[in-house]
Amino acid sequence: MNVLRPASAFSLCMAALLTLQSPAQKPTAASVRPTEMNTSKPDIKKQPWLNPALDPDQRADLIVHEMTLDEKIQLVHGDGWGVLRVGAEVAPGHNGGAGFVPGIPRLGLPDINLADSAVGARMAARESRYATLLPSVIGMASSWDPEAARLYGSVIGRELRDQGYNMSIGGGMDLIREPRNGRNFEYASEDPILSGIMVGQLAMGVQDNHIMGDIKHYVLNDQETGRNTLNAILDKRSMQETDLLSFQIGIKMAKPAGVMCSYNRVNGDYACENNYTLNEVLKRDWGFKGFVLSDWEGTHSTEKAALAGLDMEQPGTNWFGEGLKKAVVEGRVPQTRLDDMVHRIVRSMFATGVVDEPPVRRVVDPFRGRDDAQHIEEESIVLLKNADNILPLAPGQIKSIAIIGDHADSGVLSGGGSAQVDAPGGRPGGSAWGTPVYFPSSPLKYVKEHAGATAEISFDAGTDPKAAAKLAKSAQVAIVFVTQWMSEGKDNATLSLPNNQDVLVANVAAANPNTIVVLETGGPVSMPWANNVKGIVETWYPGIGGAQAIANVLFGTVNATGKLPVTFAATESDLPHPQVPGLTADTRNNGMSGNAGRRQPHDFPVDYNVEGMMVGYKWFQAKDKQPLFPFGYGLSYTTYAYSGLKLDRAAKSATFAVKNTGTRDGVEIAQVYVTLPNAAGEPFRKLVGWKRLALAAGAEQTVTVDIDPLYLEIFDTEKNDWQRLAGDYRFEVGGSSAELPLHEAVTLSSR
Ligand code: BGC
Repeated sequence: MNVLRPASAFSLCMAALLTLQSPAQKPTAASVRPTEMNTSKPDIKKQPWLNPALDPDQRADLIVHEMTLDEKIQLVHGDGWGVLRVGAEVAPGHNGGAGFVPGIPRLGLPDINLADSAVGARMAARESRYATLLPSVIGMASSWDPEAARLYGSVIGRELRDQGYNMSIGGGMDLIREPRNGRNFEYASEDPILSGIMVGQLAMGVQDNHIMGDIKHYVLNDQETGRNTLNAILDKRSMQETDLLSFQIGIKMAKPAGVMCSYNRVNGDYACENNYTLNEVLKRDWGFKGFVLSDWEGTHSTEKAALAGLDMEQPGTNWFGEGLKKAVVEGRVPQTRLDDMVHRIVRSMFATGVVDEPPVRRVVDPFRGRDDAQHIEEESIVLLKNADNILPLAPGQIKSIAIIGDHADSGVLSGGGSAQVDAPGGRPGGSAWGTPVYFPSSPLKYVKEHAGATAEISFDAGTDPKAAAKLAKSAQVAIVFVTQWMSEGKDNATLSLPNNQDVLVANVAAANPNTIVVLETGGPVSMPWANNVKGIVETWYPGIGGAQAIANVLFGTVNATGKLPVTFAATESDLPHPQVPGLTADTRNNGMSGNAGRRQPHDFPVDYNVEGMMVGYKWFQAKDKQPLFPFGYGLSYTTYAYSGLKLDRAAKSATFAVKNTGTRDGVEIAQVYVTLPNAAGEPFRKLVGWKRLALAAGAEQTVTVDIDPLYLEIFDTEKNDWQRLAGDYRFEVGGSSAELPLHEAVTLSSR
């Protein structure tokens, strides 16, 4: 495998970086660029829209009124491919990120500098290259901790500010319908409520830092194969109750500046010119006040897109430059529509504070970022198997450990594509598309630290399963690190681990009865060896603090608390789509050559009506299939008992007690599910709420989980509204979607 070698010790690296970067300083007049425009003393008599005391819509009205037609047009498209494409022009104020929209200095309006930042800032600008690699979004969602999600967003927001950006284009919200999707590590969950809440909190964390946030890719961009033209087909009710619901929750919560429409088609129309999803649902029904920006070259028309609700073309001017100007002059796109686009953009700038509190460039604090990343990863790790309580390993008592597998001596894996954060010490200006990047966070080092001086720790890269097995045989415990590299632009054809790693694990497990597998994967994988190993730990892509977090969980310094936000199917044949639609030997990985994936299959349907609203665990329940590991599942080093469920009469909350029945302090994620009355035609239970509960050993706590009434409703397509059916609602409570010891039925009237 062609990899970028990680640099050595983190601290050495950081020290080197800190000396390389320019020191923190206030911008001088000459160095001030429009993004950072100093608006501290605006003349609000002359330019009343710069008065922070006014409401953002009022400010937007005032400034739009002053703009010429050309200025308006300038704001509704990007400035070109910039640094993303060799040879493309890079404007003076361009910060080196994925997108740039020049501001209007005469009106005091700053540039918009957009940065990819799904799991940390990508291509981290010209003067401050270092950015913190956070754990995957799917990992963050495994914490089920809204505070961790907020922290996640705040790391991104803080570092973007430090680097001179004022808009994030992270916020991956697509549902994990397809477990082999290459971008699942950028997304949260297969459940719309968990996704909506966690990614909504993430976007809030970004915007807390006066950075415009974004939620993407709207909508049904649920696989990479053929993503630029595939037609996602799904009936409206199912769409509303699944993929749209996650966006609805997150957008309502975070009020993000931007929503990025996706590449694919939705029921025939491209997502960036889809009147139903943009105008009717997002803007009219949900009251979204921000702006819709297209994914990079996801715009396909001028009039149709403008009239359907697209507000900004990215990254260039194929459709919304001169073409839009002409359409407005000729009356094909009303002037009021152009004004609405501009209003949405500038009101978002005022509302998030990018005008009043412009970013001040300074060196990113790598240590603070690393600590935050480690904390989030400690909550993200999911303990999947722990036979004979092999974990936690007892520090100072183990004589020998064989560490085996992909870069486990030196680094942890990260996800690829536009989410790729540059590795410290790696290639300046961005890592190559299509190449796995490992970050300098050494599991071997931290396992050694925990195991104690007398333990003998050996390492084998795992490329030869026989050699690895030989080493494993000589040790008391074998820990095998297996990886699955995923990236934007490609899906995996199967759920299997790549590069012969199933054989590696099988060989090691046959040689050593005390084998523990640590997974670094982008999403669910199959595990044909699951019965033959004692421990299985899912760490996703662990981020820059990953190795410490992994060692802390392996040795029990931190209890395992994460729970799966996705179902792990035992085999592809149990999935609604046993094969990824459109993925053949010919089309496989074709998107890896570049962003547009031109050699991918074109214009083919992906029929999501197969599963409809039965995404993930709902499919497995309705079809009575046994997953390898169910949604919501995760073990701990302690145990919990549930008792005394009570629903209030309107089913607005569930109250119950949870007791830590083991000998260690822990954190339980208590989950509440509902099955709707039969008339709903939804033959599955669905998540409606949860709580993370810290419980000392032996402690018991009574908790109340609020239930949003919306989650008990179904979408009535005739009324175009949500509706509650009369009947019996069965509530169940427990620690996993498949283990719910408490239940109570409540009869509710229609609404
Ligand atoms: C991706 C987006 C990304 C954009 C800019 C596209 O290929 O789908 O998620 O924000 O590129 O890099």
